[in-house]
Amino acid sequence: MKIHILLRYAWYWFVEWFSRLLWLRSGLSGQVFMRCEGRTALITGGTRGIGFETAKKLLSFGMNVIIGSDSSSAESEKCLQLLRSLYPKSKVEIWYVDLSSMDSVKEFAEKYLRSGLPLHILINNAGIMFAPYKITEDGLESHMAINYFSHCLLTKLLLPCIKQSGNPKCKARIINVSSCLHFISQIDFNDLNSIHSYCPHHSYNQSKLCQVCLRMP
Ligand SMILES: NC(=O)c1ccc[n+]([C@@H]2O[C@H](COP(=O)([O-])OP(=O)(O)OC[C@H]3O[C@@H](n4cnc5c(N)ncnc54)[C@H](OP(=O)(O)O)[C@@H]3O)[C@@H](O)[C@H]2O)c1
Repeated sequence: MKIHILLRYAWYWFVEWFSRLLWLRSGLSGQVFMRCEGRTALITGGTRGIGFETAKKLLSFGMNVIIGSDSSSAESEKCLQLLRSLYPKSKVEIWYVDLSSMDSVKEFAEKYLRSGLPLHILINNAGIMFAPYKITEDGLESHMAINYFSHCLLTKLLLPCIKQSGNPKCKARIINVSSCLHFISQIDFNDLNSIHSYCPHHSYNQSKLCQVCLRMP
């Protein structure tokens, strides 16, 4: 492995563990948040991993949560039953969305807008990591499609609803779950879809850097 890549990884590990140490020392990990009854959050990829834990936390604050997931209906049902039994006072639903398809994202956003629900927090969390090379039906490399482009589209389509739901006292938020690995990434504008050469680490890191750079008009 080349020395500059090794140095980048060493820098990443330093930043990652230093941030975790700061977080623990800040005391924020034990902070009690205010109740948020009646507020609605939408999280992508909330049936397992970080998304699932986040959904649980939001439900414990009294928020209503919609989870966007591509899990099978049996898996979704199991997850839904678990969340409903843990937090019977909060409302939770799981709606199907396949983030590797922009048509599916559009359908999902239209369903949300048709529902008339407000949207106080949008959490763009779902993601794939270090997956084998795949081009989606929209002609995009899968890390870029799922981690970045689908969330751009979702955010853009839901932005009017997010703007309407917030107010100066209680602002609505968009949260993009990126990764420290964005620190060691570069965007290859000449080959965003990694057609010329594919490295899963590069594609993942690049998609996470793109998320950090996301700006909405
Ligand atoms: N784990 C880490 O150490 C780490 C570190 C830094 C950042 N992150 C970021 O944190 C986020 C969550 O990571 P995690 O570790 O919790 O991952 P995970 O356990 O693998 O969960 C990923 C979630 O994304 C969903 N997902 C994947 N492809 C999808 C698609 N095409 N359409 C809809 N949903 C899809 C999965 O749904 P299914 O269950 O239906 O497949 C799953 O719920 C990711 O954005 C990741 O990049 C993770």
